[in-house]
Amino acid sequence: MLVPLQKEDFELVAGWLADPEDHFKVCGNAFAYPLQREIYDAFFVDMAGDPNLRLCYKYCVDDRPVGMAHFTRIDRKNDFGHIGVAMVAPDARSTGHGRAMFSALLELGFNELKFHRIDLNVFESNARALAFYRRTLGFKVEGLARDTIKKDGAYLGWYTLSLLADEWQPS
Ligand SMILES: CC(C)(COP(=O)(O)OP(=O)(O)OC[C@H]1O[C@@H](n2cnc3c(N)ncnc32)[C@H](O)[C@@H]1OP(=O)(O)O)[C@@H](O)C(=O)NCCC(=O)NCCS
Repeated sequence: MLVPLQKEDFELVAGWLADPEDHFKVCGNAFAYPLQREIYDAFFVDMAGDPNLRLCYKYCVDDRPVGMAHFTRIDRKNDFGHIGVAMVAPDARSTGHGRAMFSALLELGFNELKFHRIDLNVFESNARALAFYRRTLGFKVEGLARDTIKKDGAYLGWYTLSLLADEWQPS
């Protein structure tokens, strides 16, 4: 189930983001590495919990947190939500938690929040996540925004993917 992130979850989240490559895949360079408590408190908790702005969740199975996923840039006028920071805990991947967590998030977005459109960005180097969103969840690729981020002196683009309410197939 999706449970709102709390300040007490800082160590958990920082631990999940301890690998710099994972930190980059999930946060880009929006947050400096390693994740700082003040940034976490402000972005994930203080400026979250608002269905008109941002909702940050951990995903728990039998009370064990196995991942996190957020809606951000929520736009109620246009029935739109953007999936921001999203990941399955490193030691919990490839066992179906990603599919289950995103199913719960999409259910929340389309059924409860009544979004018409949900979108997200994936770095072009993240082939696994790209395949996951397309094949497992049915997101459609809208295009590549070229050279959007600088990493190790080189520029990298991201794909924008979206799913509309009438395309969503609940699992
Ligand atoms: C991408 C991610 C969320 C997927 O979660 P997961 O729990 O590993 O995925 P699941 O076990 O639910 O598997 C989902 C699908 O991916 C496939 N998959 C599993 N492990 C895989 C692997 N190592 N390589 C490629 N595909 C894989 C599964 O076959 C499954 O497909 P299916 O449901 O159509 O049969 C997770 O790997 C992750 O957090 N990655 C690092 C952070 C990241 O990239 N976040 C996204 C940023 S945009």
